[in-house]
Amino acid sequence: MKISTSLRALASGATLGLAGLLWSLPAAADGELTVYCSVQEEWCRPMVQAFERETGIKVNMTRKSSGETLAQVKAESANPRGDVWWGGTGDPHLQAAEEGLTVEYKSPMLAELQPWAASQAEQSGYKTVGIYAGALGYSFNTEMLGSTGAAEPACWADLLKEEFRDEIQVANPNSSGTAYTMVATLVQLMGEDKAFEFMKGMHKNVNQYTKSGAAPARAAATGETLIGITFQHDAVTQAVQGAPVKVVSPCEGTGYEIGSMSIIKGGPNPDNAKKWYDWALTPAAQELGAAANSFQVPSNKNAKAPKEAPDLSTIKLIDYDFAKYGSKDERTRLLSKWDAEVGAAPK
Ligand code: G6P
Repeated sequence: MKISTSLRALASGATLGLAGLLWSLPAAADGELTVYCSVQEEWCRPMVQAFERETGIKVNMTRKSSGETLAQVKAESANPRGDVWWGGTGDPHLQAAEEGLTVEYKSPMLAELQPWAASQAEQSGYKTVGIYAGALGYSFNTEMLGSTGAAEPACWADLLKEEFRDEIQVANPNSSGTAYTMVATLVQLMGEDKAFEFMKGMHKNVNQYTKSGAAPARAAATGETLIGITFQHDAVTQAVQGAPVKVVSPCEGTGYEIGSMSIIKGGPNPDNAKKWYDWALTPAAQELGAAANSFQVPSNKNAKAPKEAPDLSTIKLIDYDFAKYGSKDERTRLLSKWDAEVGAAPK
């Protein structure tokens, strides 16, 4: 396997650059690595398999949503069990950096990253880094909409309509980074008071607050709900598999995530954590996303963006303030307010 890895790397030519050089070396370093993965399980698994194949390092992987992973890393901080937290929205990674739960690391791969990914690293004192980007939005089931006779929703404001009573699904922002991105996006778009009025109004139309951020896209695809609020690429995943869904980029504008990666402070395998970190920033590793039907925009400039990835340059994006909404105080404050005023509100 080691020799064939080298041959494959040679055959694929110089395109891999530094990464190719690093990863064509025979895998001498065995051992273990524990990865907390906060993207879709379908993408976590091939990442783990490819890394194990290339390095001989045995990976233990757990998939959990972004907010849940932050809570776990915090709970384990006296005796950390995880080495790397890979994926999930950037805000909780920034909070982990601020709370000293993750360590500074300047990967040699930083030079190959898009400016938004590098600025995520700078902003955190190099305690986290951008691995992908994606815009928030929602999707609706076209067959179900047809049978209600309602007009196609196109804006955030449409989600308040009476005809969508109990027809909207979105995750809980405590467990899900996606849903927290929605809360922070609405606050930035509308101002805090109007955003909370909006979320309280939409609460009447929400049939379920799921644990995981992408679940509502699957629910819209299967007809369990009419509308699912998720990242747009999560809805594309359903559409390419033939589900009758249409993806909406809300007319007022929308927020986005810088999906991130961090090394956990005091983890049992710090050297292997750096190996994963460097490897996960290579074009070859980032291109595994599209093969797993995950259509985020990759952070390495040399990685091919999947043709299915929503084109961020054509989406009306807000200037999301990651420093503010990824800070411990602001995130904690907004989540408590959401619990008190939205989550606990009667329907
Ligand atoms: C999905 C998306 C990712 C996002 C993640 C956040 O996997 O494809 O782009 O980072 O959700 O998960 P969460 O469950 O925390 O909302």
